[in-house]
Amino acid sequence: EHILDESKKYITFNKRKIKKINILEGRTIFNLFFEDSTRTRTSFEVAAKRLGADLINVVVKDSSINKGETLLDTMTTINSMNPDVLIVRHPEEGISKKISESVDASVINAGDGSHEHPTQALLDLFTIQQVHGSLEGCKVAIIGDIMHSRVVRSNIIGLKKLGAEVVLCGPKTLIPKFITEMGVTVSYDLEECLAWCDVAMALRIQLERQGKGTEFFPSLREYHEKFGIKAKHLEAYPQFKIMHPGPINRGVEMESLVADNERAVILDQVTNGVAVRMAILYLLSGGTRI
Ligand code: NCD
Repeated sequence: EHILDESKKYITFNKRKIKKINILEGRTIFNLFFEDSTRTRTSFEVAAKRLGADLINVVVKDSSINKGETLLDTMTTINSMNPDVLIVRHPEEGISKKISESVDASVINAGDGSHEHPTQALLDLFTIQQVHGSLEGCKVAIIGDIMHSRVVRSNIIGLKKLGAEVVLCGPKTLIPKFITEMGVTVSYDLEECLAWCDVAMALRIQLERQGKGTEFFPSLREYHEKFGIKAKHLEAYPQFKIMHPGPINRGVEMESLVADNERAVILDQVTNGVAVRMAILYLLSGGTRI
């Protein structure tokens, strides 16, 4: 809640013509992305630069990892340059926690494999609060590749903590066996979820994490048929808003008409992401208040 409150200031700040303040002047922040990313990496970069920090992007294909250096060696080497924050995206689950135990800098998990993506969840919580007023009692349906999604796991933790109700929806093969132990319910019926929810959060089908690809369901076309949000759903159930962490596969998770509909807050999520990350960087780096 403190992070969400702190983020509000930056929403106003980011609408100013001069979007730069030097509260993190002299701080050194590394963006260490070992996986493809456009929005999360640039969102952190914009956030750090607007606060006046020096941000270094480490391009992984140029790093010594390719010369056989282990990841922890790379991290302790960077740590010896006295950075303040390391922002890490990596395909291995739990890696940012491990790194945080061997460096002095603060470590932000920007997505570790299929495990967690906490800053995405925080920006999602912020966006839901913005459209729904409160998270207490808010009904959130999360639809798609639950099995391989780090976004969903962080969202469940945050949503439940702040009193929202969560229903997960997707093909049986993409719902992990013990997920209800996180306090959520599961539905295999998209229409039922859309009739019930205040917010429908669609998740990308993570083909890159699904081994051979379509072994979890017969085809993307069939997936879209059963679990894609369509214009007809917007008409039938006029109450729900649409979210997606991006990148969207138009025609798979949702029809283009849905993604571009005024009830979709997908671009607000991106805008809010910068503010939330500014708040997080400020809180971690101990800068002066704005
Ligand atoms: C998500 C991610 O990388 O985990 N995207 C993001 O951070 N904006 C979701 C995804 O890749 O589908």
